[in-house]
Amino acid sequence: MMQSQQLIQLAQKYGTPLYVYNGDLIKQRYQEFLNFFPYKDTKIFYAMKANYNLAILKLLRKEGAGIDAVSPGDIYMALEAGYPKEKIFFTVNKITDDEMHEAAKLGVLFNIGSLSRLEKYGRFYPNTEVCIRFNPDVVAGEHKFVRTGGETTKFGIVLDKVEQVKAICKKYNLKIVGIHEHAGSGIPESVQILRAMKNILNIVTKENFPDLRFVDFGGGFQVPYHPGEPRKDYATFGKLAVKMFRETCNRYGKELEFWIEPGKYLVMESGHLLSEVNTLKKNCKKTIAGTDSGFPQLIRPMFYQAYHHITNLSNPEGEEQIYDIVGNICETGDCFAVDRPIPEIREDDVLAIHNAGGYCYSMGGVYNLRPMPAEILIVNGEARLVRKRLTSQELVEQIVSESP
Ligand code: LLP
Repeated sequence: MMQSQQLIQLAQKYGTPLYVYNGDLIKQRYQEFLNFFPYKDTKIFYAMKANYNLAILKLLRKEGAGIDAVSPGDIYMALEAGYPKEKIFFTVNKITDDEMHEAAKLGVLFNIGSLSRLEKYGRFYPNTEVCIRFNPDVVAGEHKFVRTGGETTKFGIVLDKVEQVKAICKKYNLKIVGIHEHAGSGIPESVQILRAMKNILNIVTKENFPDLRFVDFGGGFQVPYHPGEPRKDYATFGKLAVKMFRETCNRYGKELEFWIEPGKYLVMESGHLLSEVNTLKKNCKKTIAGTDSGFPQLIRPMFYQAYHHITNLSNPEGEEQIYDIVGNICETGDCFAVDRPIPEIREDDVLAIHNAGGYCYSMGGVYNLRPMPAEILIVNGEARLVRKRLTSQELVEQIVSESP
């Protein structure tokens, strides 16, 4: 964790609520992740949906990452952060034709996960290269909303439709240079990731895909949420994955590139949301600590019942008591933690919500018309404001300007 003292000082300087990211940790996670896979052609495509802050995108670009983009907005943002179009990979999901044309103009490689979109893409862009997203037929992930594999989900082309894929690609002379799978997010058992990999590697043959350059295994790597929770042994996992991959390459007769798309693993643990308690209240048996943030600024506890560890930066040595930590939004579900033991909380104390580096700011919004918090990035121990917070008045001015 970042030093409590530094976090308190940042809360004082920039005000709360405030997102603070440890860029040094992001770099460390990137390099260790790369080392999990002892294969020279391993390429990491950061799933920028996890956190699209411009400074973080630039930091990961300097580490050598490419980008997994999921919308034209993601692509523009990645270009803005200096990624060349060759390093931006566009995983399409229910895109419109307009979005398809916009992205095609930007020159990125498409990852297509439905026969109907493949057909439309082929019709407009024959004689080009594509990647095909298959459904790995494995159901895995830390919450049912983030399990993307298996026959009941909307993602990817099921594995037994290889012949249809080949037929469409032949018709439009589309060259399949990559195949892709992604089973889910925060996958609890590495063996499930291996199974998904194995399922897609099974269809890697010269006969199916003679022009293959890479196989992309998506993201889904879990981080610890609870203090003291052991890290997953992805080093052992990575060796097994690479062994399996090499066997496939030998069978295929070419050293393919090994692509992987982590989001959470790179950024999740780097972030804290700092929020000040402004209202303490006892309701019958409950002690409720009301903060100056809420679910539009960090939705994971409410949306996925995700556990986010919370510390009291202002009173770390206080005697533990049981609290509900709630937000400032007019809904009862607006809760960061229920019945949580935390060192005694007083009004004006600053709390740190941990694991807020991924899928927190990026899933945020301005419900109840509260502007999103500012974002701070610490690199080499030095903190820098990397996105400012609008004032309430600026937020309204922006909305008014968008309202003809
Ligand atoms: N690749 C694809 C095609 C994806 O759909 C995703 C995530 C990733 C890579 C990165 O997965 P990761 O390594 O971050 O698990 N909002 C949810 C997570 C949604 C993930 C969606 N897809 C959460 O807060 O848990």
